[in-house]
Amino acid sequence: VSVLSAVKEFSLTELNMPKDWKNLTGMAKKHVPIIEAPAKVKAKEPFTVKVKVGGIDGVEHPNTLGHWINWVELYAGERPVSRVEFEPEMCDGYVATLSISLNETTTLRAREFCNLHGVWEGKGIKVIVE
Ligand SMILES: [Fe+2]
Repeated sequence: VSVLSAVKEFSLTELNMPKDWKNLTGMAKKHVPIIEAPAKVKAKEPFTVKVKVGGIDGVEHPNTLGHWINWVELYAGERPVSRVEFEPEMCDGYVATLSISLNETTTLRAREFCNLHGVWEGKGIKVIVE
């Protein structure tokens, strides 16, 4: 891996998002947050949302004092819902399990921050409120 291609794989100053989901880089597999949520929910009834960082195709993100996922954030559209912080070496993987409720159909979005590789966002998940 040349220095140039390594630099292109992520930005510390801009939001990182995969450009090609069918050909994720190793960097993306380690950093992109994946949201799990039901496709349909009832208005104002709590449901579980899971946000996981790392592990796409088994490519886990490091969890050391020098390199770890500092936090994940969940948004409903543009509105912040929650932020979960991780301490290096103390958490077993990077999973945030949240109970939330919605009153209208919304796209959930997640971001994470790695101390070495910046902020990453994955695919939004549409949750239909019936
Ligand atoms: Fe990282």
